[in-house]
Amino acid sequence: MLLQIVYLSKSTSGMSPEQVTELARACAQTNKTQGITGVLYHHNGHFIQCIEGEDSKLITLYAQILNDPRHHDILTAVIKPIEERMFPEWHMGVVPEMQAEIDFDKILPLEAASKGHWNEATWARILDSFRLAAVLDPYPES
Ligand SMILES: Cc1cc2nc3c(=O)[nH]c(=O)nc-3n(C[C@H](O)[C@H](O)[C@H](O)COP(=O)(O)O)c2cc1C
Repeated sequence: MLLQIVYLSKSTSGMSPEQVTELARACAQTNKTQGITGVLYHHNGHFIQCIEGEDSKLITLYAQILNDPRHHDILTAVIKPIEERMFPEWHMGVVPEMQAEIDFDKILPLEAASKGHWNEATWARILDSFRLAAVLDPYPES
């Protein structure tokens, strides 16, 4: 069964765009071998990541991510079975900082306060904007 997980977290130390790209690149290498796809967004000390893949592989990865000291206050926003992947072409795309319609400075604290219980439509909209904005070589050399 295909699963999709989206979470929010706070990065432990300040991350430059280069460091985020480097992290995503390393993730993409591993994800490629595990059939995992998704995107990573970092903004103002927060991560939003979407990962998708076969349930057993995805749960194993998420357990590792939850224990990673590079971030904390991890909030699972979406965990659901999916018919098809939203990011089939990205083993771990990076979403650049956006001047988008989405004001993350406003929504991140709100989402944290609501303990991740945003409605699915809001997350679908955010992921849609991520899909359009994602960059980074989708198939890095291994
Ligand atoms: C924000 C964030 C996102 C991550 N995303 C992934 C990912 O998509 N794939 C991956 O293999 N590791 C990812 N990692 C790294 C894992 O947490 C972990 O370090 C890696 O899977 C190696 O685990 P191991 O040292 O237990 O083998 C991420 C780490 C952070 C902080």
